[in-house]
Amino acid sequence: MASAIRLGVNIDHIATLRQARGTSYPEPAIGALLSEYAGCSSIVAHLREDRRHIKGRDILLIKKAIKVPFNMEMSINKDIVEFALKIKPEQSTLVPERRQELTTEGGIDIVNKNNYKKVEKAVKVLKDGGVSVSLFIDPNEKQIENARKIGADMIEFNTGKYSEAKLAASIKKELLKIKKAAAFAKDLGFFVAAGHGIDYENVKEIVKIKEIEELNIGHSIICRSVFIGLVAAVEEMLGTIQSRRKE
Ligand code: PXP
Repeated sequence: MASAIRLGVNIDHIATLRQARGTSYPEPAIGALLSEYAGCSSIVAHLREDRRHIKGRDILLIKKAIKVPFNMEMSINKDIVEFALKIKPEQSTLVPERRQELTTEGGIDIVNKNNYKKVEKAVKVLKDGGVSVSLFIDPNEKQIENARKIGADMIEFNTGKYSEAKLAASIKKELLKIKKAAAFAKDLGFFVAAGHGIDYENVKEIVKIKEIEELNIGHSIICRSVFIGLVAAVEEMLGTIQSRRKE
């Protein structure tokens, strides 16, 4: 039987809606509670250096409100690392961050020697402070090997290229890369997550990769919730991933 798969709901874009008008609503913490009520396994939020959507107060409220684990997405910026050490999320996920980007544009490149050293240091500081660390990386063997050397607790594959691919051949190629990388990572003993750009359609092939044990999904769920409500949107995603996992 195929193993179960966890769903982490990323609620950043509830805050994006709020910031579009600078209002006090919608409240991301309420979104976190509703996602938990709908059955997700964890809540994910990205405290960006520019605070463009999620703010420090959102993180504090979410952390207080929910019972499921909180996964804080973050860069290795010193102030952000210090903030994480104070609030102690159950998990941190280190991502690269550039101010001008629309969203996270790629995995954190730990094959690059300079990045490797900086990430290694941040991982140590976080782990010493009792925060487990996941590294968001591209599905590539060298990145996975370095994640192992750095001492990451888990990894999350960037599915951005797969999600953006338009032609059948490119979709197949990107999917194969993820499949191979997931098998390689599992052999090294990693818990494997994946995410970025996953929607209600492209998720169907991803969940068939049995080595992937967790998906972190935000934008598509929050977009659907505008029409059908957040509980229904999370439930629909859960239904899709669970039924397709069994196929
Ligand atoms: N995982 C990581 C590491 C991310 O950076 C993001 C985007 O914040 C997601 C998952 C969720 O991506 P999306 O909003 O495209 O579903």
